[in-house]
Amino acid sequence: ESTLGAAAAQHGRYFGVAIAANRLNDSTYASIAAREFNMVTAENEMKIDATEPNRGQFNFTNADRIYNWAVQNGKQVRGHTLAWYSQQPGWMQSLSGSALRQAMIDHINGVMAHYKGKIAQWDVVNEAFADGNSGGRRDSNLERTGSDWIEVAFRTARNADPNAKLCYNDYNIENWNWAKTQGVYRMVKDFKQRGVPIDCVGFQSHFNSGSPYDSNFRTTLSEFAALGVDVAITELDIQGASPNTYAAVVNDCLAVSRCLGITVWGVRDSDSWRSEQTPLLFNNDGSKKQAYTAVLNALNGG
Ligand code: G3I
Repeated sequence: ESTLGAAAAQHGRYFGVAIAANRLNDSTYASIAAREFNMVTAENEMKIDATEPNRGQFNFTNADRIYNWAVQNGKQVRGHTLAWYSQQPGWMQSLSGSALRQAMIDHINGVMAHYKGKIAQWDVVNEAFADGNSGGRRDSNLERTGSDWIEVAFRTARNADPNAKLCYNDYNIENWNWAKTQGVYRMVKDFKQRGVPIDCVGFQSHFNSGSPYDSNFRTTLSEFAALGVDVAITELDIQGASPNTYAAVVNDCLAVSRCLGITVWGVRDSDSWRSEQTPLLFNNDGSKKQAYTAVLNALNGG
């Protein structure tokens, strides 16, 4: 196959991309995105501050631009993200306790109702675990409402849209030896044992010199899958875009039957949140990088 999406589909996987609504008018950007990918994530437009700028007043203008573009171009959509310590609108930042808890529930219900039946996977909760060696939760206004906020979010989400796969999504959980990985693993294991509705774990996979790719990523994916959840690579970018590392990540996903697919966090290097690291698959002029060829070859079987 000659595109990433078609090559991934040979394995029953998708190959996705993060899209920014304000770039869809850029014809180079839009034509690459339309051609190569078959799953779309909104880079910012479905976040809390974008979709509920004032309490109870939802705004899906930019989110729908991306959603409609994706559907018109035959792509599925991953929803990102419903409950997160960051990108909260000012009104939510100022809430605490039961008022914040209720606002979270109302937000999940409001956004998921708008897209009911239309989203393949939702990142229900994003980045709830602490960096470093504790393996514990990240402190946040949501965590201070009670550590059951995550399971409340998942139960709310299941009721709001029973057809969406519900994911927990985080970064620096790719290395099996890291405390943060083990913390998330323990939570997912506990959720599965107690019947909390979780379907998938998203591994953001922002690899760089501080958190490099390690070949034990495949172990991590396998161990989570063995708990009875799907896994997905949700925000892949690699500092320097080593072709070998990109190919290794593809092969790790292909080796784990419950790995649903791979999403890269932008189209060209110039579209990246860390463009100075040139971490993506396309050059600024839209030409394919060596990493692109390595990914395509890996998807095509070597
Ligand atoms: O659109 C405004 C613009 O009008 C304004 O002039 C400018 C000035 O700062 O800001 C622009 O908004 C920025 C937005 O990106 C669009 O470029 C925000 O400040 C900036 O905070 C925002 O950054 C995004 C970041 O999430 C926010 O947390 C990045 O684009 C986005 O790539 C990044 O994505 C996250 C995932 O959601 C979660 N995992 C990590 C990943 C990378 O940080």
